[in-house]
Amino acid sequence: MKNIVVLVSGGGTNLQALIDAEKNGSIRGGKISCVISSKEGAYALERAKNAGIPGVVIPRKDYPDKVSYSKAVLEELGRQQADLIVLAGFMIILDECVTKAYPYRIINVHPALIPSFCGEGFYGLKVHEKALEYGVKISGATIHFVNEKADAGAIILQGAVEVANDETPESLQKKIMENVEWKLLPKAVSLFCEDRIEIKDGKAYVIQ
Ligand code: GAR
Repeated sequence: MKNIVVLVSGGGTNLQALIDAEKNGSIRGGKISCVISSKEGAYALERAKNAGIPGVVIPRKDYPDKVSYSKAVLEELGRQQADLIVLAGFMIILDECVTKAYPYRIINVHPALIPSFCGEGFYGLKVHEKALEYGVKISGATIHFVNEKADAGAIILQGAVEVANDETPESLQKKIMENVEWKLLPKAVSLFCEDRIEIKDGKAYVIQ
């Protein structure tokens, strides 16, 4: 059984999707062993507690910079004996001391079709505002490995939705979460835990 450590910052609906998937047996070969939050009082911590999963808070505001914060996270990941780290609505870009320690072992969910609307500054609702501002007719979400560059690691899975004429950032966010994120994130986590993701020339391929 692989230890899955989930990092969160907010509401935690993606964490909930993972908890539900584990409960109904669709995450094969892994269990969520710990949830780490960058914010005290994040609702995601309640979700962890309700599911009987230990929660740890490492508040971003207690650290002067990204490097010292990342070092604290890295230490906790070691204590938790993490095999897989999932960034599920984790709003902080971690320093390379973390990404280099866990190559192809950190998975992120990004609410757009990478390489569009991604990178530093693109997170949460902002991503959907930018997509609507541009006028795209399709958007979606990407599940990818995390490397040293923001949102630039190997893509594992992507899914798309159509953008309606009267779409708002909020409605697009909801549509993408319900139709893509909550389905594909648990799927990618299960594929990882079953050792069904192969890396070749820096790209990820699902073994059928
Ligand atoms: C999700 O839409 C996730 O894709 C996005 O924030 C939301 C968190 O919701 N993540 C990012 O923008 C990371 N760059 P949740 O807390 O309910 O899972």
